[in-house]
Amino acid sequence: MALSLDFTNMMDAALPHGAGITAAQWSAAAAGFASVHARVHRMQQELGFLTLPRNDALRDATLAVAAPLRGRFDDVLLLGIGGSALGPIALRTALRPPAWNALSADARGNAPRLHVLDNVDPATIAATLHRLHLSRTLVLVVSKSGGTVETMAQYLIVRQALADAVGEEAARAHLVFVTDPEVGALRTIARAEGITTLEVPPNVGGRFSVLSPVGLLPAALIGIDIHALLAGAADVMQRAESAELSANLPGTFAMLQHTADTQHGRSIQVLMPYADPLRDLALWFVQLWAESLGKIRHDGTPVGPTPLPAVGATDQHSQVQLFMEGPLDKTVTFITVKGREHEGAIPARHADIPELSYLAGHTLGELIDIEQRATAGALAARGRFNATLAIDAMDAWHVGALLQTFALATAYAGVLYDVNAFNQPGVELGKHFAYAMLGRAGSEQARAEWDALPKPDPRFRV
Ligand code: PA5
Repeated sequence: MALSLDFTNMMDAALPHGAGITAAQWSAAAAGFASVHARVHRMQQELGFLTLPRNDALRDATLAVAAPLRGRFDDVLLLGIGGSALGPIALRTALRPPAWNALSADARGNAPRLHVLDNVDPATIAATLHRLHLSRTLVLVVSKSGGTVETMAQYLIVRQALADAVGEEAARAHLVFVTDPEVGALRTIARAEGITTLEVPPNVGGRFSVLSPVGLLPAALIGIDIHALLAGAADVMQRAESAELSANLPGTFAMLQHTADTQHGRSIQVLMPYADPLRDLALWFVQLWAESLGKIRHDGTPVGPTPLPAVGATDQHSQVQLFMEGPLDKTVTFITVKGREHEGAIPARHADIPELSYLAGHTLGELIDIEQRATAGALAARGRFNATLAIDAMDAWHVGALLQTFALATAYAGVLYDVNAFNQPGVELGKHFAYAMLGRAGSEQARAEWDALPKPDPRFRV
């Protein structure tokens, strides 16, 4: 069971005309890593995600809530947005069979389907409520702050629909809140009505919360082995005790991306799994990397790489053209899976047609691996930075390890960019303008600022 990162194709020795990271740059990075490491690892109290993999109390509390719910519901509807939704979606896609929600109860081993709203598009919510039998649906309301506007709007609608379907009293038994232990509207409601809750520790931020009850509860409900998930993440933390860059995979990833951005102008950073189950993990990574690192530094400089999701081999027929010949402003990190349950033997048919006959005797697993290696080599041949992160298997252990690897890398990258990776001040202004337009009390100043903004100019409309 292991993860490995091959970054040959990021280095000048492998790229034409010495385009890559030089030996001197990499030695300087390695020398500087010890202080980055120390800054992150001494903040165990503030950075709760560092200790989530070994937080047995939180894991057991999650399992204790999940156990009596098993068998009672056909569907789990998760209300949440951002970090409260992307992690659960990534876990479902990675660790349940494809099209989980379309499978029969038998094929799901009688575990429920999992639906995650992650938005306030009325068409999606109406269609979801129309489809579900609310009398057999468990609703998880997931919000660290317990007051996020989108999640609260989802909650008000779904709570009303639940009450209409099963009655006010019975509706309470269909609800579980995952939220801060003390503050927020959800906590207030839970206290007043005795609704079951699980905590998001106050020192765990939304996008770092996938291995808290935010991700663990829905995962446990749909039959994912959360012990293995946490064990994989714990293994990453144990290996990352080393302040040697060469022994620290998350540190190496962060340092490579930072060096590529700040010293080689490679500010667009693509995560490209060659595996459908990791599609949504790439979207989870995008939020983590973007919301954590895109910041105005204390000296006023705006900084931060731009993450981009892709999927191989699909994107070989889409974005790879841009990666190969577009501006020299990207890195591509592939994720590959070494061991597979299904290899997908390709049958020998049409032996007389050369465009098909060469495929006979190969497998789809072989094809997707070869295509990844071919794409990595082709990118390198054109001076395009790329690295390959390999996992041994698509299982809970390795997915837990991947999630913790990227979370820890983000914390290291925050130090490298010299920003606070754990806040998101940039989203506040838009939020306050929205509150002002919705008439929320206390938004008078935002309303005045909004009203003072230039209005749409008819000269600039077509
Ligand atoms: O990473 C973050 O902190 C955000 O993306 C949050 O997850 C998102 O805003 C939802 O917040 P909350 O969980 O408080 O509803």
